[in-house]
Amino acid sequence: MESALDGKRVLSGFRPTGLLHVGHLVGALNNWVQLQARYDCFFAICDWHALTSEYAEPSSISRYVREMAVDWLAIGLDPERCTIFVQSAIKEHSELHLLLSMIVPLGWLERVPTFKEQQQEVANRDLHTYGFFGYPVLQTADILAYKGNFVPVGEDQLSHLELAREIVRRFRHLYGPVFPEPQALVTPMARLPGIDGRKMSKSYGNAIFLSDESESIRQKVFQMITDPQRKTRKDPGNPEVCPVFTFHNAFSSKEEVAMVDRECRTAGIGCRDCKGILNGNLLTALAPHREKRQAVLDRKGFVEEILEHGAVKARKVAAATLAEVREVMGVAP
Ligand code: TRP
Ligand code: SF4
Repeated sequence: MESALDGKRVLSGFRPTGLLHVGHLVGALNNWVQLQARYDCFFAICDWHALTSEYAEPSSISRYVREMAVDWLAIGLDPERCTIFVQSAIKEHSELHLLLSMIVPLGWLERVPTFKEQQQEVANRDLHTYGFFGYPVLQTADILAYKGNFVPVGEDQLSHLELAREIVRRFRHLYGPVFPEPQALVTPMARLPGIDGRKMSKSYGNAIFLSDESESIRQKVFQMITDPQRKTRKDPGNPEVCPVFTFHNAFSSKEEVAMVDRECRTAGIGCRDCKGILNGNLLTALAPHREKRQAVLDRKGFVEEILEHGAVKARKVAAATLAEVREVMGVAP
């Protein structure tokens, strides 16, 4: 199996703070499925990262951990070809986080744009905590524990990756070359908007979830906002400003996309017809995932078994890395 890979390792993770939606599929997960064929992939369900913001009400995290594993299996992550695990099962991440924290200057963390942004934006939680401040150091530990070469992430994570690279350089300067500098693999597909046109997010209530039933998908598609200038069926529309069209780009055939693009601009097609086509394509794309989800859920103990198997594989790699790190940092084995 090793021979099919080019020897490079990929690591990425998600925070289990909610159900996965089609934005995650198009923006990240479809790409992960492709990466499994080329690289030695490790995919982490980062429950400690979830705690940095959900610490006051942690009760739903374990449910979302499980749901995430089910969704990942359903969309085609294959435990025979990649390693799926839960972050908190691998205590080495926490030890590496602690050891890295010794060498990370405070100024570097203060400069990470997500730090101030999130503190300001997230009004209903107090994020002035030590844990939240160290979020990108923990993320760096996730990557370095596996000596990750590539990290598929969205653009919003690039500053975290830059920090990880800086930490690697400082580590190398102080103790020698233990870690490769991880490179971001930015997912090519544009972000999918939510059904109200804003960023798709469960907290906005505008998401289409991978676990949604077909009836609920249909309702959401028909609720989607369209070009606001197109008030009546007779008005021509502009697909470039229409969220429905962004979805067509992700889920419809080239011919259909071209047809919608043309006929919307000339009022040849109405928004209801346009949404009808999208709905059909979305159902076709998501039905296999939903069936697979059900199949995974029907196999009692399957998810637990996959996560346990993943933890054993992950632990082995992370333990070997930590042995090296302890050695160069002069702490007991
Ligand atoms: N911070 C990432 C996010 O919010 C999640 C994450 C945690 C991650 N650890 C990681 C991503 C390691 C890449 C690598 O999306
Ligand atoms: Fe949007 Fe389609 Fe209506 Fe054009 S026809 S405005 S692309 S929903």
